[in-house]
Amino acid sequence: MVALVSPVPSNGAIIGQGNAGSALEKGLQQNGYETKTVGKEPERVQALTEWGEVIILAIPFPERSNAVDAMGDAVDGKILVDVTNALSENSEYASSLEESGAEELQAMVPDATVVKCFNTVFSEHMPSGKLEGDALTVFAASDDEEARETVVSMAREIGFDAVDAGPLEKARWLEPLGYLNMQLAFDQDMGTNIGFRLVR
Ligand SMILES: NC(=O)c1ccc[n+]([C@@H]2O[C@H](COP(=O)([O-])OP(=O)(O)OC[C@H]3O[C@@H](n4cnc5c(N)ncnc54)[C@H](OP(=O)(O)O)[C@@H]3O)[C@@H](O)[C@H]2O)c1
Repeated sequence: MVALVSPVPSNGAIIGQGNAGSALEKGLQQNGYETKTVGKEPERVQALTEWGEVIILAIPFPERSNAVDAMGDAVDGKILVDVTNALSENSEYASSLEESGAEELQAMVPDATVVKCFNTVFSEHMPSGKLEGDALTVFAASDDEEARETVVSMAREIGFDAVDAGPLEKARWLEPLGYLNMQLAFDQDMGTNIGFRLVR
């Protein structure tokens, strides 16, 4: 991993312009960040990765290696925020407690710094970080402390209660928490107007 240039980014390149990507874009734009998004267009993914100070990956889990190929070495030296939930094409849980999807992603981009964050909240709450006026908690996990601080600051600026969760290994527990969120919403019929908050 290489040292990061700036702890206070002013822009974010968002790969994925679906529910999560566009909701995070809204949250960042409302708080003064310049943002650009891109979908499944490899040349534009590379150009946008070059442009962004922080890269936000908000694409389906099975698409990660295609996006990594498209980003190429443009992602080197940058923070790559992993918003993905570990779901297979059949929507089954696709990660393990021995190695998270985020650690797998870090191995795919060894010269970037992966930060797992935002996967435990529904996109409806990403523009404000809040539900019924209460800030929802998001957790940032990364092996680089400065990168964690950067993403925690970005999330707080959106309006989230953001918590430094420690090294990237903690994504082994953040990914099941994202899965539980979906199970509560869809299997337990609670809907997406729910979210987690760490009381302390
Ligand atoms: N939705 C939520 O509430 C939520 C919450 C937390 C985490 N997440 C996670 O965020 C990720 C995105 O979810 P979503 O709900 O936003 O999905 P979505 O609405 O289906 O959007 C997916 C986006 O990813 C793009 N994409 C697919 N393959 C790509 C590739 N190889 N390179 C670049 N872009 C690619 C798609 O582009 P095209 O339109 O061009 O195909 C689309 O813009 C998933 O991993 C999900 O688990 C979602």
